[in-house]
Amino acid sequence: MTGIVIAIDGPAGTGKSTVSREVARRLGLSYFDTGATYRIATLTCLREGVDLTATSDVAAMVETMNVELVLDPGNPHFLLDGEDVSKLIRSDTVALSVSKVATNLEARPILQQMQRDTIAHEVEGGFSKGAGVCAEGRDVTTAIAPEADVRVLLTADEEVRVARRAGEGADAATVREAVLGRDRQDSTVSSFHEAADGVVTIDTTALTIDEVVSAILDLAEASRS
Ligand code: DC
Repeated sequence: MTGIVIAIDGPAGTGKSTVSREVARRLGLSYFDTGATYRIATLTCLREGVDLTATSDVAAMVETMNVELVLDPGNPHFLLDGEDVSKLIRSDTVALSVSKVATNLEARPILQQMQRDTIAHEVEGGFSKGAGVCAEGRDVTTAIAPEADVRVLLTADEEVRVARRAGEGADAATVREAVLGRDRQDSTVSSFHEAADGVVTIDTTALTIDEVVSAILDLAEASRS
């Protein structure tokens, strides 16, 4: 039997990253934050002085960048030309520009293929030694891993999503714009508010992280029995 693939989708503030990482940790899987690939591509372009609105230039840069993904749920990190850029890709500079790359229709398919290849590698071997992968991101249940063993869409009321992010620092207005503004931008290329066929929706509004993790572990177990 090849490794399990668990795909988790959803907008900002649904607990997607925390939940996915914990699911991977509990099941001994690789943890793949697909959004990181868009962030690494953005950092690369910013460093190399590529105009982020120059669609083909960005795509050409993405095609040639040298990235290594270390999918350890205990310490996920990313190397660009051998340099650990895990912290840099979380900077405000990258966060403010990443939607330009995520909505670039020439660069996006290249990164999507990189993500599919990464998942295929993890079910055969990779960090998890073939146990499998928990992948998260806004189109993983649909465009990236439509055949995944478990496909979950996490949702939560808008106000709760904004409040969760506000709890991480920054002022309320900035957080509101960051969460809802990014939803608007990203929804031009991927639909992540409605579950596709076969995708289980978990409304996290009134649930703790542990409760969401347990629900996904139950789905994983059911998928293998
Ligand atoms: O989840 P995140 O903030 O790291 O995502 C970074 C950007 O990439 C954000 O604009 C959403 C986008 N993204 C995407 O379009 N598809 C994915 N599978 C993952 C992220």
